[in-house]
Amino acid sequence: MVNDQGQWLVLGAGGMLGRDLVEVLEQHGRAVTAATRADVDVTDPAALARAVAGADVVVNCAAYTAVDAAESDAEAAELLNATVPGHVARACRDAGARLVHISTDYVFSGTATEPYAEDTPVEPASVYGATKARGERAVRDSGADALIVRTAWLYGEHGPCFPSTIARLAGERDSLAVVDDQLGQPTWTRDLAEFIVRLVDADVPAGTYHGTSSGQCSWFEFAQHIVGSSGADAVVGPTTTADFPRPAPRPAWSVLGHGSHEALGVESIGAWGDRWEAAAGRVLGSA
Ligand SMILES: NC(=O)c1ccc[n+]([C@@H]2O[C@H](COP(=O)([O-])OP(=O)(O)OC[C@H]3O[C@@H](n4cnc5c(N)ncnc54)[C@H](OP(=O)(O)O)[C@@H]3O)[C@@H](O)[C@H]2O)c1
Repeated sequence: MVNDQGQWLVLGAGGMLGRDLVEVLEQHGRAVTAATRADVDVTDPAALARAVAGADVVVNCAAYTAVDAAESDAEAAELLNATVPGHVARACRDAGARLVHISTDYVFSGTATEPYAEDTPVEPASVYGATKARGERAVRDSGADALIVRTAWLYGEHGPCFPSTIARLAGERDSLAVVDDQLGQPTWTRDLAEFIVRLVDADVPAGTYHGTSSGQCSWFEFAQHIVGSSGADAVVGPTTTADFPRPAPRPAWSVLGHGSHEALGVESIGAWGDRWEAAAGRVLGSA
């Protein structure tokens, strides 16, 4: 059990999620060490072991997140997403720290028609997804006290993300075409950070949890909300994935179920539309 006085370590603290997680932990009055890549290179096992010593909770936000680039840069993605999580997990096991490892909806193929339960067998369709799935396995096999938290469709104020791109384009163009045949759960990095704190505070058992907003929408629907919030006059129209070929295949159905944590009484993140209303000012920089 980690009490409020526990020492947190955030790896990858310079990223979109990492920065919000550090802010949220500080707002909760928690002791937190924010380790950016410059502070701790997670590919260096000795540096990792030094950093993890003395921590009660370690959150691994470091990853290779360039989904399309991973298709032609598999070795680098494998190192960050599959090999490093094993090193992090074994360092946590040896130090007696609880690990929160961040994973992704891309471990699934996206061909389902109902929300993916936490124990659905993985079936990645991209290099990125396959490396993240191997990272999950390395964490599970390590013997560490680990929570694997899968998230999806993240956006936040500290990183390039779908809302910031759409708002910029809507300011430059009269119309935008956005895919309407991929469904998911837009999730604010601050909400995910709060969810991680709730999971740890509730002392949930080691296992896999899904940290995404509730409900579902397409990128087209989300873009309509973003343009509405931005105040731009651009018209958003629907298009299809087939019209926008990308190196890595995208899951068509990225809706994750929340049964594991709800069964333990841990509150889910709210509905994606309500959460976007709460986030828009900060994420679009007009707060
Ligand atoms: N973004 C999404 O939509 C999404 C969806 C599902 C799951 N996820 C998962 O959520 C997690 C956080 O993603 P994010 O969106 O916050 O990504 P991000 O902004 O790209 O952050 C990743 C961080 O990892 C750091 N990093 C890379 N190599 C490192 C190394 N060798 N040592 C230390 N740090 C290193 C990066 O540092 P530099 O800035 O120096 O490169 C960056 O700060 C990842 O596990 C990702 O797979 C994200």
